[in-house]
Amino acid sequence: MDEERIVTASSIDEDEVVEYSLRPNKLKEYIGQDKVKEKLDIFIKAAQNRKEPLDHVLLYGPPGLGKTTLANIISREMRGNLKITSGPAIERAGDLAAILTSLSDFDVLFIDEIHRLNRNIEEILYPAMEDYALDIVIGKGAAAKSIRLDLPKFTLIGATTRVGLLTSPLRDRFGVLCSMEFYNDNELKEIIIRSAKILGAEIDTDAALEIGRRSRGTPRVANRLLKRVRDYSEVKGFKVINSETAKAALELLDVDKEGFDRIDNKILAAIIDNFKGGPVGLETLSYFIGEELDTIQDVYEPYLLQKGFIIRTSRGRIATDKAYLHLKRNKTNADSHQCTVFDEDN
Ligand code: ADE
Repeated sequence: MDEERIVTASSIDEDEVVEYSLRPNKLKEYIGQDKVKEKLDIFIKAAQNRKEPLDHVLLYGPPGLGKTTLANIISREMRGNLKITSGPAIERAGDLAAILTSLSDFDVLFIDEIHRLNRNIEEILYPAMEDYALDIVIGKGAAAKSIRLDLPKFTLIGATTRVGLLTSPLRDRFGVLCSMEFYNDNELKEIIIRSAKILGAEIDTDAALEIGRRSRGTPRVANRLLKRVRDYSEVKGFKVINSETAKAALELLDVDKEGFDRIDNKILAAIIDNFKGGPVGLETLSYFIGEELDTIQDVYEPYLLQKGFIIRTSRGRIATDKAYLHLKRNKTNADSHQCTVFDEDN
């Protein structure tokens, strides 16, 4: 197995080191995702009491919501090591076999983007998850024989932004399913205050809330914006980050009041100006605005949907009134796709 394809703390750059230092190491320190935390807390305690590994966990939801952080917390609580890899990094069956045989009891194997695991390789995971066993075929043709090797009692944590793309045999082998939701403004404010403390930056509550509001419901974005606002504030000579400074810095970063960046606004503008408000398919939209389909699907669409700026129909995406208002566009009758019943008087 090529070491480079396993992401470990030793191969990350400096910005990521800071990012890692901002991540909580204990469930108690983790802000938000209350339902996920409650479930994990119970199942971890139950496993610890029985001196068994935690059952396999599937974490699904948009990127940047803290799936890797949870995997790190789980491995610490279970007192095992954490090994991190991803679906596309595992190119051959031998790669996965090497990873599995290198584990110890109670270790956590984290596979990010597990929906991108090759189907033939994925099948190796079935006996590994179910029976802690690795089936190896030796020889070819009629002489081929299968032997079974015992594996350590590990926990697999799968993470995906597209739970719908998981095959059912794989999905069904996870004992704990956790849906990660966008964070609310208050949770993001708390995360920013906590991160500022770790970074040694002074920030007032209003500024933390302002950054939180514009962080797309995502801690990874919140921490990135905090670092840039801190840069701005330091260079301008302010001791404490206040909401004025935060607003000015965010403006400079092209992050608007809704937390939208250039691409969100490009998507909304294209639906309204070029497709009469929709419906338009994501592929067409991606081609039209020249942005990656995967990025639109994983990052932009979920947030625009959640904020109610677009709706999804079987015929494509439609811009809502909120989107027209945001971009200061007038909605003509020709743009209207909603089944509105108009009063005779109106
Ligand atoms: N940093 C990044 N995500 C966090 C979270 N959910 N809670 C606390 N700090 C965080």
